[in-house]
Amino acid sequence: MAENTNVHELIRNRRSTRAYSSRPVPVEDLQALFEAARWAPSAINEQPWRFIYADKNENPEGYHKLLECLAEGNRIWAQYAPVLLLTIAKTAFTATGSDYAHAWHDVGLATGNLLAQATQLELYVHLMGGFSTEKATELLQLPAGYEPVLMASIGYLGDIEQLPDNLKARELAPRTRKPLNELVYNGAWGNSAFTEEDK
Ligand SMILES: Cc1cc2nc3c(=O)[nH]c(=O)nc-3n(C[C@H](O)[C@H](O)[C@H](O)COP(=O)(O)O)c2cc1C
Repeated sequence: MAENTNVHELIRNRRSTRAYSSRPVPVEDLQALFEAARWAPSAINEQPWRFIYADKNENPEGYHKLLECLAEGNRIWAQYAPVLLLTIAKTAFTATGSDYAHAWHDVGLATGNLLAQATQLELYVHLMGGFSTEKATELLQLPAGYEPVLMASIGYLGDIEQLPDNLKARELAPRTRKPLNELVYNGAWGNSAFTEEDK
């Protein structure tokens, strides 16, 4: 299916790179990412998202702790990103203490905002589920009631040629998505809303 040019460029231009430049990320740009995240919607405006980031140059100790949480397959390329991030969910409502079933969902919304803002700033964020939640909880001293959700690398695009061959191939592979007719139904399950040709 042809690319839909009606989709905003902040969505079209985002992708998960594994090739990072060592160029540092200005702290005010990092702040803009979290500012974008904090304006996401959430159930009763609970804002269950929390973030721990570390900049390699500014806070090498914190950066190392985050790096240690990553699975080896991610660490191999993410170690070159100037900033690492952990997203965290508060899993109960503050007012009642009851289970916040949509906490992870809402952290995802905030993270989506962060991705769009990053793209605007020509920053590349690569989300990673491949990390140890136990290590993250322990090394970053998360209090009870807060769960690690996802990790991410943040930085500017680097030289793809410097990646090992297997990662270079993944970087150059075409990005694909399921067609809309598999994803969107009109009124009832199975009643595809759009034909495959619809853009
Ligand atoms: C919840 C989640 C977990 C992910 N975990 C990893 C990971 O551990 N390692 C990795 O290289 N990419 C990971 N990714 C990135 C996806 O592979 C990537 O978003 C997907 O292939 C689509 O590519 P794109 O982001 O370039 O559009 C993860 C993405 C999400 C949303």
